[in-house]
Amino acid sequence: MRNNSDHAMFADANHDEQSAQSFIKTLRVFSMRNFFRGNETILNEKVLSKRTDGSCPPRREMREALENEPHNKWWSSMMRTTQEMLYDTVGPSIERQLPDLVERAKSLRGKLGSLTLDDSVEVPPYLSAVDMHCKPGSYQQEMIADDVFAGAEFDRTFRLYSMGGLGPNLDDMGFTLAAWMRQQFGDIGPKRVLDMGCTVGHSTLPYCDLFPDAEIHAIDVAATCLRYGHARAVAMDKEVHFSQQNAEHTNFEDGSFDLVVSHAILHETSRRAIRAIFKECYRLLAPGGLMIHLDGITPDKPLDKYYSDWMSINNNEPYLGTVQDEDFVGICTQAGFDADKVTLGDAESQFVGKASDDKPVYGYLAISAQK
Ligand SMILES: C[S@@+](CC[C@H](N)C(=O)[O-])C[C@H]1O[C@@H](n2cnc3c(N)ncnc32)[C@H](O)[C@@H]1O
Repeated sequence: MRNNSDHAMFADANHDEQSAQSFIKTLRVFSMRNFFRGNETILNEKVLSKRTDGSCPPRREMREALENEPHNKWWSSMMRTTQEMLYDTVGPSIERQLPDLVERAKSLRGKLGSLTLDDSVEVPPYLSAVDMHCKPGSYQQEMIADDVFAGAEFDRTFRLYSMGGLGPNLDDMGFTLAAWMRQQFGDIGPKRVLDMGCTVGHSTLPYCDLFPDAEIHAIDVAATCLRYGHARAVAMDKEVHFSQQNAEHTNFEDGSFDLVVSHAILHETSRRAIRAIFKECYRLLAPGGLMIHLDGITPDKPLDKYYSDWMSINNNEPYLGTVQDEDFVGICTQAGFDADKVTLGDAESQFVGKASDDKPVYGYLAISAQK
């Protein structure tokens, strides 16, 4: 099954695996398209129609209105079940190919860019305490020497998980952030770019094409994902410097980047960590440099906010509900940025395919601040 663009690290799927994965993706899309939207009717009747000021209701109010509705229970059960099914299906498929994938990654190592691992980096408790979005062992589980399992599995499951909405290379978030940045700040030409929480670099690689003269760095705490991500980047002929680091406190020097970005990492951290990460971004930026974080944060969209709240409770993403209520301007100013240099905005997905019956298109919040 080669639904992503082919690259030498992409794990194969035999007929049965392909069939099972297609079934799960179809069932998820069907559940979202046909049942999740039905929750909107219930929400309108029970909650939104009673609000006179048109504001988005608190998460708890929406949860209490929906949680015992049979329609919502059906949808909820399908989403949780298919989430577990996708890991149950993809995991064994990757495991049977793991020795070969490890060798492939080793053979690509060092050919372009770099990979710096540091086993003294501790995985923060917000990642180690749960199997994040039901991914067994989260991003960081090491099963064998030079393991690439978590990365290889992510490359397959993320496509199913996102239901095809992130484009063939799963790089929509990188292109979307860059397009939003261009709208807000015009054509900037960063010389050094840092992507925090890169996982396997899906969103990192667009920066290689967009800024061919820039040095592109990408960090994550998960060595398994970085090994795979580095090999994937080499296989796709992209030069990226991957290193194992905690975004809360990196080893880069003060002022060493003019663009620091992240894609979908904030909601997987914590109230304390997000504040530390923004402070670290401030430290890492050169004067005039830009920090931009893109994430699925939709505080003003009732149904999307309900979905995030549901995931925080039912999909092992503990902070995803709370992050909807954060004061990002306040967090930026506490980190050192001037309030008038902070811009929040909805960023429109750049995935050229746009929405269709089997492919949703995502909405993102872009949180930016200039030093
Ligand atoms: C949802 S994934 C991000 C996806 C990726 N940015 C992309 O666009 O494909 C979250 C990633 O953030 C990483 N992460 C979370 N907290 C981190 C931290 N404090 N430092 C470095 N990486 C972190 C996790 O290990 C995981 O790989």
